[in-house]
Amino acid sequence: TIPVIAIDGPTASGKGTVAHRVADRLGYHYLDSGALYRLTALTALRRATPLNDEHALAKLAEHLPCSFAGGEILLANENVTDAIRAEAVGNTASQIAALPAVRQALFALQLGFRKAPGLVADGRDMGTVIFPHAPLKVFLTASADARAQRRYKQLIDKGISASIEDLLMDLNARDARDTHRAIAPLVPAEGAHVLDTSNMTADEAVDLVLKWHAA
Ligand code: CDP
Repeated sequence: TIPVIAIDGPTASGKGTVAHRVADRLGYHYLDSGALYRLTALTALRRATPLNDEHALAKLAEHLPCSFAGGEILLANENVTDAIRAEAVGNTASQIAALPAVRQALFALQLGFRKAPGLVADGRDMGTVIFPHAPLKVFLTASADARAQRRYKQLIDKGISASIEDLLMDLNARDARDTHRAIAPLVPAEGAHVLDTSNMTADEAVDLVLKWHAA
């Protein structure tokens, strides 16, 4: 069977960076499941689909004309790699991610990323819902302060101005929504290694994950 490494955790916990590097080191495929929610959100925002129209949003999710190639994310041939990272898109993604029909619509799409020689899957429910039989599950966390600092640095590096206070507020709101939603709430999967990266570099976290994988 094809191995899956499930890496879940809250926003700005560093799981994207860690998951990506682990995939590179092992030559595995990489699933950025958050991008699927973001692509659905971007499409909904552009079409002005009401965010309470669960059926319409699920239809969008089910028929996303998306493709992933060489780190770029395409939506019907348009490169939306940067567009989906906008804060407004992230906030909308977190809202529509609470809708069961949207999650259901993205289920099969996510399973399709599991291909030889292996997959590193990054998200909120990789170990709990999508790949419950993954041989390695990791739950990456970091303190809210550490995560706000990281997000701040990411934005500043991109030349986008930001305020730590606003980022902290947004992060807490998103955590609350992801943790308390009725469907696929953000919790460590059974058997997951819980790793607090507040005082750790991304490479130190990568090395630990690789060590667990090899064990
Ligand atoms: O960058 P950040 O970690 O904030 O977000 P992301 O991983 O790109 O995901 C965006 C939103 O999609 C999150 O706030 C979650 O609410 C939702 N999501 C989810 O519900 N399940 C997943 N497997 C991945 C993301």
